[in-house]
Amino acid sequence: MGVRPVGTELRGRTVLLTGGSSGIGAATAEVLARRGCDLLVTGRDEQALNRVAERTGARALVADLCSPEELRRVAERASHAEVLINNAGIGWSGQLEEMPASEVHRLLTVNLAAPVELTRMLLPAMRARGRGHVVLMSSIAAVGVGGEAVYSASKAALRAFAASLRYELSGDGLAVTTVLPGAVRTPFFQRRGLAYERSFPRMLSAETAAERLVRAVERGREESFLPGWLDLAARFQGALPGTFHHLGRRFGQVR
Ligand SMILES: NC(=O)c1ccc[n+]([C@@H]2O[C@H](COP(=O)([O-])OP(=O)(O)OC[C@H]3O[C@@H](n4cnc5c(N)ncnc54)[C@H](OP(=O)(O)O)[C@@H]3O)[C@@H](O)[C@H]2O)c1
Repeated sequence: MGVRPVGTELRGRTVLLTGGSSGIGAATAEVLARRGCDLLVTGRDEQALNRVAERTGARALVADLCSPEELRRVAERASHAEVLINNAGIGWSGQLEEMPASEVHRLLTVNLAAPVELTRMLLPAMRARGRGHVVLMSSIAAVGVGGEAVYSASKAALRAFAASLRYELSGDGLAVTTVLPGAVRTPFFQRRGLAYERSFPRMLSAETAAERLVRAVERGREESFLPGWLDLAARFQGALPGTFHHLGRRFGQVR
């Protein structure tokens, strides 16, 4: 018999949302505000963050997640958070040999080390309260994508981190949700330096992605693929990695 999913009723809950200044995070802040959450949003772009805060009634906390001091400050300010949404993330596109070491480090820090560290710092209070929900923003790239080796590795690691954490939290009233989007229309692609040019999977709007993320939390879903059918791609890759790789090369999805 499986463990019953722990859904989280969001009204009145305190939520820490990273990457709230743009894209999926900004759209998620709007959905959470409509749900009546007490919101704390983070980002580096002060103006963009303040605009989101004005629209949603959130408290804005400007912080670079690459800085251990700023990360600690975020955790202190949000020590009472009942829901932690680790959404901030960056991409990088190109062959591994062309990727500067500084970019490898930055990407792994923002996408992996920061969410792990924030989760580690906020969990004790959640456990003491017997209530809490951690969300990790992974990606369908977790199955492996050519030209995005470090990004894909960071997202696969987050998925494994979430799966491992679920064992540690099982039965304690705490939940972990992993979100694995395909493509979402946000500044992400422009920032990583390469537009999204595939016709498949089709892009979702940031608003749709945000609605589904929030619903996944409310329903206590362990994993939420956006759109849902991408789950099949991940299952296929898990069951038949060789065939998946062969088809990926053939159809240009995975170089
Ligand atoms: N868009 C997609 O197709 C897609 C698909 C799968 C997964 N995802 C994931 O979804 C998440 C959100 O991405 P998005 O598409 O919404 O991209 P986005 O519009 O570029 O937003 C990225 C967010 O991360 C924040 N961020 C980046 N570096 C940071 C740093 N050093 N310190 C603090 N905050 C930082 C940015 O804030 P500032 O600019 O204010 O620093 C921004 O709010 C990411 O984890 C991404 O990997 C996106």
